[in-house]
Amino acid sequence: MCGIFGYLGSKNSIKACLTGLKLLEYRGYDSAGIAAIKKGRLIQFKASGKIKALEKKINMKDLKLNLAIGHTRWATHGPAIEKNAHPHLDEKNSVAIVHNGIIENYNILKKSFKLKQTKFRSETDSEVIAQLFSINYKNDLVLATIETLKQLKGSLAIVAIHKDHPNEIIAAKRESPLAIGYDDKKTEFIISSDPNAFSGRNLNVIFLKNDEIAHIKNGDITVIDLKNNKILKTPQKLNSKNLTFSKKGFDHYLLKEIFDQPITVQKAFIDRLTENDEIEFENFNLDKKFLKSIDNIIITACGTSYHASLIAKTFLQEKAKIFISSEIASEMRFKNLIFTKNTLVIAISQSGETADTVAALKTAKENNAKTLAIVNVQNSTISRMCDSSIFLKAGLEVSVCSTKAFSSQITVLYLFAIYLARLKNMKKKESTSFLNELKTIPRKIKKTLKDFDLIHEKAKKYSQYENFFFLGRNLMYPTAMEAALKLKEISYLNANAYPAGEMKHGPLALIDSKLIVIAFCANKKTYDKMLSNLMEAKARNAQILAFATKKSYGIEDIADDVIWLEETSDELAIFPSTVASQLFAYFIAKIRKTDIDHPRNLAKTVTVE
Ligand code: M6R
Repeated sequence: MCGIFGYLGSKNSIKACLTGLKLLEYRGYDSAGIAAIKKGRLIQFKASGKIKALEKKINMKDLKLNLAIGHTRWATHGPAIEKNAHPHLDEKNSVAIVHNGIIENYNILKKSFKLKQTKFRSETDSEVIAQLFSINYKNDLVLATIETLKQLKGSLAIVAIHKDHPNEIIAAKRESPLAIGYDDKKTEFIISSDPNAFSGRNLNVIFLKNDEIAHIKNGDITVIDLKNNKILKTPQKLNSKNLTFSKKGFDHYLLKEIFDQPITVQKAFIDRLTENDEIEFENFNLDKKFLKSIDNIIITACGTSYHASLIAKTFLQEKAKIFISSEIASEMRFKNLIFTKNTLVIAISQSGETADTVAALKTAKENNAKTLAIVNVQNSTISRMCDSSIFLKAGLEVSVCSTKAFSSQITVLYLFAIYLARLKNMKKKESTSFLNELKTIPRKIKKTLKDFDLIHEKAKKYSQYENFFFLGRNLMYPTAMEAALKLKEISYLNANAYPAGEMKHGPLALIDSKLIVIAFCANKKTYDKMLSNLMEAKARNAQILAFATKKSYGIEDIADDVIWLEETSDELAIFPSTVASQLFAYFIAKIRKTDIDHPRNLAKTVTVE
């Protein structure tokens, strides 16, 4: 799981690679590397850590080269040390490759007759590609690639260069995504894990399909399949906007993105609601007849997006009155789910590139289900795979820890639920008060953000503890799950979420005076039951910090601290509760001095299964 990049053209290829890699760094930041050809020899630069570390190692003088490949790594096989950084070269230093994916048969290949004498320099699965390629190479790059691909199992997107072909570059794909962009005059060719790295350029873009190989040579591109047949590809024009990274004066992208939410939530609904509160989604092409006939919906996603799916499931089921299931994407294809001709599968993803969600969508497609993407990134793999997409319009989310995407996902899914429910059975006036209240949410988020200092104070008090239980009931349970994930991810603390009623069935055994209970109390439906559950925890000496709405009674007598939130209906309580808990996690991480925007071991986009 990584970002790969290749450049062949009229500009400085090393500079182009560094720029491209920075735009792909969200795919992994364990190590980075670049290889190029200089005077008939392969040269390479590698560094563990972020692209900045690599940049420091490169002296641009005498490096005006036209061809280079680069890689930013999220370690799968072998630790994040320099020798495991890509590009990987073969024993003879003739070929260099960068790889995104996992070669599942790498160990078998290493011990095979062809490779058993080979001296491997790294612990990675990817190096096997370079070594195999080298053995298969008989003066023809394409034939060597075909042969190599036939021997590999698993997922891959690769870019390769060979010292004897200083004006050629090879790219190939199986499962992991790969895009190739070029200008109208074909003076520059850029290969990238995704179009993000084409930032600010107007390019003709080709997306490779599984087992397609692109060969760029003499200012032209040829695409070939594994039988060496040429494939006609029609490029699409992509005018990609400049991706600008700015913390806008905040200390971290995370804090900026938490503060973006009054606007991003508004953007998710404002242009989709007409004056008469009709709901309209741009370029929405799921047929109304089909939507009316839907008899079940499977929502699939990972991480934070999965938590959004849990909230959507409850709301959609209640409004549209059909059976909805929510499936963790990495598990979905191993279950024998029931698909009917009226099943809709909704994939939720900020990045639109998550490999597990892509795999779940493939299962949906194999079962002929209609598919809808709820994604932030346009032109992403998931949005291209689905029959229709609704975009979050949340803008670039840089911090690995997802915040504004989550609140936008809930907003979009709530709108979709009302849209579908109205098509099916709901009278328009039944949703009026809900939509009116939704319009007040940006203002209520703003009010929550004003409690910045107070939440900071509470974070100081609890930052020295190591173990946290996040409790909630009904919609406050997925809210608690999401809040616990935030704390784990950026503070490296042990934070477990439970439905509060489950405590007595086991987890209560863990409670003592050193355990902090973070209680989400903003659902009226379950408020009294929640208080009883908190009493049970308090009786066992737990310390309690509660997030409760201003009109709640009794909580202040139970909890050690209360963060008071704006009053909302149960469905919309998720917004103030989540924003307050995001700030709480942020401050704890800040006090504990972690790398908030780039937490250890993680990547913004997870492109391996
Ligand atoms: O891009 P996606 O929404 O598909 O990503 C899914 C998860 O990897 C992601 O939400 C992850 O859990 C976040 N880092 C959580 O903050």
